[in-house]
Amino acid sequence: MTATKGLEGIVAAASSISSIIDGVLTYRGINMDDLAENASFEEVAYLLWYGKLPNRSEIETLQKQLDEYAVVPNEVLEGMKLYPKNTNSMAALRTAISSLALYDQAANDMSPEANQLKAIKLQAQLPAVVAAFSRIREGKEPVAPKKGVSIAHNFLYMLSGNEPSDVAVKALDQALVLHADHELNASTFAARVTVATLSDIYSGITSAIGALKGPLHGGANEAVMVMLEEIGSFANVEGYINNALANKQKIMGFGHRVYKNGDPRAKHLQKMSRELGKLRGNMELYEMSVKIEELVTGQKGLKPNVDFYSASVYTALEIPRDLFTPIFAISRLSGWSAHILEQYQDNRLIRPRADYVGPVNAKYVPIEQR
Ligand code: ACO
Repeated sequence: MTATKGLEGIVAAASSISSIIDGVLTYRGINMDDLAENASFEEVAYLLWYGKLPNRSEIETLQKQLDEYAVVPNEVLEGMKLYPKNTNSMAALRTAISSLALYDQAANDMSPEANQLKAIKLQAQLPAVVAAFSRIREGKEPVAPKKGVSIAHNFLYMLSGNEPSDVAVKALDQALVLHADHELNASTFAARVTVATLSDIYSGITSAIGALKGPLHGGANEAVMVMLEEIGSFANVEGYINNALANKQKIMGFGHRVYKNGDPRAKHLQKMSRELGKLRGNMELYEMSVKIEELVTGQKGLKPNVDFYSASVYTALEIPRDLFTPIFAISRLSGWSAHILEQYQDNRLIRPRADYVGPVNAKYVPIEQR
């Protein structure tokens, strides 16, 4: 038995949710470019869960369910008020989502209907949890969710307490569509491994949030912004990047395990970053990002991934830097839960083997002799 480091190239599950074939990403067979241009995030979540685009009455039913479930139990919000003020946002999210299970009577109901409903419930509650976390640490009360508006609209509203602009809602909605699913990425795999033991959906999502937190995965979008802030201005880009590459540092937001010729989602975020920059009358972050891309692609052949231009997009939307990865979680929850439902449908315990490389024939030595 020889291990494949990072399971590169290993096919670990059959799935009909999303595919990456020859660098083209599809959700349920529909090209991501098509969905990014035309679909709302709610339509995409429905597509991922049910395997087809919703008709008008189906999307209206989903909207009603999202409205009904978006309220977070008060016990969870009160619990969040006890988190230390400087808590890492993804750690807070991991804890809060786990605690939602304690107040859901159906948390351990494993029927397909109950699990589908929990997927919708979590999708409704996650944006409210992220917005509440942001407000509580600023000493403000959480804002109750609105009814009849999109998840993107509701999230921006609950974050600031003010009505968001149409431009901001559209940009965030598109970003949510772009992040919704991505085949067997690390966090989705973590979710599937957890529920393949027949553990509950909350446990699966909590595992996924833990996996998404790391800077090699979802945490990269925040890390990109840290880098842009460290660079500070367009004039510093060349020196910073040349130095980082000479020191063999990883440039966050570049490279991908699966895409070697570029991440198809990045172009949409780049366009959005340019348009939002123009609207705000401040193109510096966009221009810095383009210059970084030119240097990193030119010198290393590495292309930007989904996280790279997300950083300047979310900054243009005036979203705090440490909420970038929680926003990724809001979107990816649709994919995680679709994969969890798919795993339950045809489950088998996921239990690979390890290539043992430790000592052999070692003997127990009594403590006095060590
Ligand atoms: N900057 C500089 N060099 C890089 C980068 C980068 N961002 N990414 C890969 N490389 C180099 C590595 O140093 C390595 O070089 P070497 O062969 O000389 O040692 C080579 O490219 C292969 O890299 P690996 O890390 O082995 O590639 P892997 O497939 O394991 O990793 C990953 C993919 C984790 C995305 C990697 O490219 C990376 O760390 N990127 C930065 C973090 C990032 O943006 N993550 C988000 C990914 S998208 C997502 O999860 C949503």
